[in-house]
Amino acid sequence: MSGRSYHVTTFGCQMNEHDSERMQGMLASLGYEEAPQRDGADVILFNTCSIRETADSRLVAHLGEAKRLKREQPERIIGVGGCWAQSLKDEVFERFPFVDVAFGPGQIHKLAEFLTSDSITAQGFFDFEGFAGHLPAKRVREFQAWVQISQGCNCNCSYCIVPSTRGREQSRPDTELIAECERLACDGVREVTLLGQNVNSYGRDLRAAGNRSFAELLRAIDRVDGIERIRYTSPHPKDMREDVLAVHAECGAVCEHIHLPLQAGSTRILKAMRRTYSRERYLDRVDLIRRYVPDAAITTDIIVGFPGESEADFAETLEVVDEVGYDSAFTFIFSPRRGTEAAGFDPELLVPHPVKVERIGRLVTLVQRRAAERAQRFVGRRVEVLVEGQSRTDETRLRGRTAHNKTVNFEGTAAPGEFVQVEIESATSTTLAGSERLLSRAV
Ligand code: SAH
Ligand code: SF4
Ligand code: F3S
Repeated sequence: MSGRSYHVTTFGCQMNEHDSERMQGMLASLGYEEAPQRDGADVILFNTCSIRETADSRLVAHLGEAKRLKREQPERIIGVGGCWAQSLKDEVFERFPFVDVAFGPGQIHKLAEFLTSDSITAQGFFDFEGFAGHLPAKRVREFQAWVQISQGCNCNCSYCIVPSTRGREQSRPDTELIAECERLACDGVREVTLLGQNVNSYGRDLRAAGNRSFAELLRAIDRVDGIERIRYTSPHPKDMREDVLAVHAECGAVCEHIHLPLQAGSTRILKAMRRTYSRERYLDRVDLIRRYVPDAAITTDIIVGFPGESEADFAETLEVVDEVGYDSAFTFIFSPRRGTEAAGFDPELLVPHPVKVERIGRLVTLVQRRAAERAQRFVGRRVEVLVEGQSRTDETRLRGRTAHNKTVNFEGTAAPGEFVQVEIESATSTTLAGSERLLSRAV
């Protein structure tokens, strides 16, 4: 008899991807196998996101298919986890009566409880509890891992739904995180990405108990044998301090890449967003980064069309983008989210949709031009690449990433998980291209 199977679809950020890994690890420990297709699974799960309206509408389309699959085979379990589920709570069952179990990001472990109980009624789990960090995780690649260092967010960005879906900030004890990194290294992991909504405020809630600060945590993980690359996302500009930048300059494993979300270049809009930094303060942080790590790749997130954003405000965003010269940027159109402060702003402040679309077009053009210009600094250089697999566009070539988080497509023979030296021959705004030099680094 074949065993029970599951299928998970993940939306949203790395935090959700990691939560899905833990759902999968938990299901594997209950004896479930992964089904390649949704229609072949006994348990169909959606790990949802609600950051923008587009995320919501995409999910609703998927749920339509789940409804059909449930009708065809009523003993199937349909589960909905993540931020969208948390933001709607029990309303999920009213709007989507075919859902059997719904749970928020802090309640992943309840999925196992539900599947092993003999309950036949639909259940929702939405409390903010401790960590799911201890759950086993099924990693996509054996040499890369996410490590969740904190959960929740104590900021009040006026556009953002995350504080209401992930709760107050809570750090995981440093000793637990270092032990997790040591375990991962023993398991063959060479690159870790530390995850948190605001990673550089890590540890403040545990300071009284003598816990390490974020900078100290980075130093401790840098000392873990076998972990050769450390990344993290996202720091908040308000908390970006010299101690972290000194770690970048001094610790070999900490990558030369900093994601520093700008959101807007106008101090007036930043204030309305409640970001708690001004344009000047942000640019001052960029200067500081360049002083400590002159070659660092800096990437960012930007929102266009925030309520009240005038053409002059938007021009300031363009100026900052031009001045900083990001290596890449995620750009978003403002989307009002239920329960957030910005969703309640005077409708007169709303920027018409065509204006938002026109602005994001101009922004993307500038971002790409600056990123392409910045990328030329790598041409002619020999860079270290962690091989991830085949190139997505040409299967005779390999793909990997540099410490600067640049994707490189290259001619070579190395295996996934190996570090190789690649000579860069050309660069676009998004990728580098080159050839492997046979000097592969000893493991
Ligand atoms: N904690 C992270 C952000 C997580 S959300 C941080 O502060 O960096 C990822 C990005 O989505 C944000 O940086 C922001 O640019 C964008 N975003 C969040 N809410 C949004 C909204 N309501 N409309 C448009 N973009 C939004
Ligand atoms: Fe949202 Fe702001 Fe917290 Fe990031 S820092 S998760 S944008 S509230
Ligand atoms: Fe991430 Fe989306 Fe939640 S971006 S934190 S999954 S709302």
